[in-house]
Amino acid sequence: MIVLGIETSCDETAAAIVDGEARVRAEAVLSQLDEHRPYGGVVPEIAARAHLQHLDGLIARVMAEAGIGYGDLSGVAATAGPGLIGGLLVGLTTGKAVAAVHDLPFLAVNHLEGHALSARLSDGAAFPYLLLLVSGGHCQLLVVEGVGAYERLGTTVDDAIGEAFDKTAKMLGLGYPGGPAVEAAAREGDADRFALPRPMLGREGADFSFSGLKTAVRHAIASLPPGPVSARDAADLAAGFQAAVADVLVDRSRNAIAAFRSAHPAGDTLVVAGGVAANQTLRARLAALAAAEGVCLVAPPPALCTDNAAMIAWAGVERLRLGLADGLDAPARPRWPLDPASGGPVRACL
Ligand code: KG4
Ligand code: ZN
Repeated sequence: MIVLGIETSCDETAAAIVDGEARVRAEAVLSQLDEHRPYGGVVPEIAARAHLQHLDGLIARVMAEAGIGYGDLSGVAATAGPGLIGGLLVGLTTGKAVAAVHDLPFLAVNHLEGHALSARLSDGAAFPYLLLLVSGGHCQLLVVEGVGAYERLGTTVDDAIGEAFDKTAKMLGLGYPGGPAVEAAAREGDADRFALPRPMLGREGADFSFSGLKTAVRHAIASLPPGPVSARDAADLAAGFQAAVADVLVDRSRNAIAAFRSAHPAGDTLVVAGGVAANQTLRARLAALAAAEGVCLVAPPPALCTDNAAMIAWAGVERLRLGLADGLDAPARPRWPLDPASGGPVRACL
């Protein structure tokens, strides 16, 4: 089985070829950082135009790198949501066109399912597992029971975690994209200098909240001398913010592990996925939690955590194997929660 995957839901244009043995035969990711940097965030219209400009070339490139023709494909998978509508339409329409022209099955993939199943591509994680999904638009703890079978244990009641990283970076003058900038600044910082809150810490359940933490960072900045935040202050605040986020993630994940285990006594794996899972401090803290709780932590390599098309192609492989495929009338879905009962938050890129 060989599947072409296409990802255009936010600010990465990506294409990949993945096979049924979980081998990434070829992949290409084009980040639009330079286009969006002047605006300090993703501008939907610019993103859609950039996808349109680059996607065909990326597909041709991965097909050539994999050394295959369209006749060798078993299917075409494209992200259908959640995400920015303009970008989704570009990827979805392109994927449908390739599938239609070459008479191939088409798979309309949920971007979050791509993240959720990425640990099976990288590490062969077996169902069921507990998933901590931390991305630009989400922060959730879910039990992944199988392909298309997700049970949500907790979610953010306000901001997404990646959004909190990005806004903190902006307030500190660290630029865009925020997550990696906060992580880099935090390396030089003293996490104990500013006393920042740990929202939800010690509470029952597995929900998250980040808006109070963001406000606390803003107040801390307001207490500093006027003018741009100095490198020292930015490093200390970045370190304090990251430590607070890590404490919260560990606390909420500990509760979720207990709930997961009581429902699935044989379950022994915690997976962390999504762009924020590229953060080394968070990975180390979650590894320590997993060791203390006696579960294995699976954290896909950072390039598979941030947006990419290999995870979309792989979700296509998994669905195709189960005999699932979608019609060419599959819609783009700006909102598309993984668990149908939830009606989850919109994925916010800006
Ligand atoms: O999964 P992703 O690439 O896109 C979405 O599906 O949203 O996640 C993007 C988010 C952004 O908010 C970005 O700042 C954050 O992931 N991120 C990080 C790191 N790398 C990316 N956050 C913290 N530390 C990082 N190293
Ligand atoms: Zn993502």
